Amino acid sequence: MSQLSKEIKEQIEKRRTFAIISHPDAGKTTLTEKFLLYGGAINLAGSVKGKATARHAVSDWMEIEKERGISVTSSVLQFNYGGYCINILDTPGHQDFSEDTYRTLMAADSAVMVIDASKGVEAQTRKLFKVCTMRHIPIFTFINKMDREALDTFELLDDIENELGIATCPVNWPIGSGKEFRGVYDRETRKVEIFSETHKGTTQGEVRKISLDDPGMDSLISPEQKEKLLEEIELQDGAGAEFDQELVSKGELSPVFFGSALTNFGVETFLKHFLMMTSSPLPRMSDKGEIDPMKEPDFSAFVFKIQANMNKAHRDRIAFMRICSGEFEAGMDVYHMQGRKKVRLSQPQQLMAKERKIVEKAYGGGIIGVFDPGIFSIGDTLTASGDRFCYEGIPTFAPEHFARVRQLDTMKRKQFVKGINQIAQEGAIQIFQEYNTGMEEIIVGVVGVLQFDVLKYRLENEYNVEIRMDNLPYEYIRWIGNEEINLDKLTGTSDMKKVKDLKGRPLLLFVNEWSIRMTQDRNEGLILTEFAR
Ligand code: G4P
Repeated sequence: MSQLSKEIKEQIEKRRTFAIISHPDAGKTTLTEKFLLYGGAINLAGSVKGKATARHAVSDWMEIEKERGISVTSSVLQFNYGGYCINILDTPGHQDFSEDTYRTLMAADSAVMVIDASKGVEAQTRKLFKVCTMRHIPIFTFINKMDREALDTFELLDDIENELGIATCPVNWPIGSGKEFRGVYDRETRKVEIFSETHKGTTQGEVRKISLDDPGMDSLISPEQKEKLLEEIELQDGAGAEFDQELVSKGELSPVFFGSALTNFGVETFLKHFLMMTSSPLPRMSDKGEIDPMKEPDFSAFVFKIQANMNKAHRDRIAFMRICSGEFEAGMDVYHMQGRKKVRLSQPQQLMAKERKIVEKAYGGGIIGVFDPGIFSIGDTLTASGDRFCYEGIPTFAPEHFARVRQLDTMKRKQFVKGINQIAQEGAIQIFQEYNTGMEEIIVGVVGVLQFDVLKYRLENEYNVEIRMDNLPYEYIRWIGNEEINLDKLTGTSDMKKVKDLKGRPLLLFVNEWSIRMTQDRNEGLILTEFAR
């Protein structure tokens, strides 16, 4: 058996791949841009004025995103900082989001949660957070917008602990907020990093760090602020959780940082600590046991996202894969487990801030996008190892909104079916059929309602098909866990609907949880599951 070379091991060790999550407007885009700025990947020319344009150039691809100024698809950005090679997996920043977001989290080794200091934990964060906890990956918290009026610090920490059920450990502590914001106190070095708005958007300028006992401190913070800080620190030292790397690594303790991404304050401090506290790429479960990137010498990867028509001129389809072990070389032949054949990975790409560029080499922990002639599905495994294995599948998340969809022009049935199937393969939508009829009626299920707009837009623009969509009242979907079941005989509530998925598996749509319970009561032994098997 071949050995993992020292060179490849070193390359993998310096990779850090994380997802960035937040509620819309908490400052995720701004923070991402500041990370890229520190990594030298973008030059904002000393101003955040260019943000609107930079934002589109950096992470938004689809036309609909440009029109609405929101990020619909999750993108991947790479930059280097302090000897590390960092991949940021961006997740959509609007209220509605798709399964794509959840899947992106499956490709990350840790997550950074951005919270607006004036708002605390908001709905979207809660939902995304569930996926992080499910995977037990480390979660880091950046409490942003300290230059604006913020909630009380203890209240913010309590909020995270209560809402998300995770202990917190503030690495630094804010002094005031809004107009009174003076900086953060580093609990380890016992120094205060002085807030200054002067280098908005640029990396130039050192942050001043002054010991709390330094006489110069008195001109920087008021005696009341100092007293309040000392009191709060004493309280926190006495009652709060202590930093424990092991708990952080297991996702049970979230290190918390305070800052202001807009003014660049606290961003580099966060980045430095974050890199020290996160691990290099983690092992992944497969049907042959855990595959450890620090031991497995051969290339292996799994597909976590597929996106068609990223470049309209080329009508291309890109499969994004997370490399789990070994070294990737452009044009290499690998075995596609689900397709049961060898494939050549051509046109490998990485996103480097503004541009996509062709990569020659990539390593475990990295993310690449490869040209997909339509053979890959989400969750597929690729491996160069002689000892073949499949990575654990990516769960299908239950859609919460449903609509009946049909094409307006009956002559365009073929394009319609092709388009809707391709979009479903990407994972943005799930499609179902009536249980007893043919393919005539298509029911679309989505996790976030915005995906309906995306579907309509894409069918019109990419497949030239106009559609009509009628919303359905269902909110819950359940797959049937029983091997043998006669769906005809199943008695549910009158508002229940029987459908089947693309693989022909029967499932039920419900309007409310009461109907689910009733159906279960009426059919003894019936097993209903939230995820497809
Ligand atoms: P998102 O990706 O999480 O949705 O948030 P985004 O970074 O787009 O930030 C949302 C708004 O909050 C932006 O203002 C941004 O400038 C502002 N913001 C981000 N970080 C901070 C911060 O630390 N302090 C303050 N005061 N504001 C912050 P906008 O007016 O919506 O956009 P723009 O006109 O600045 O582009």
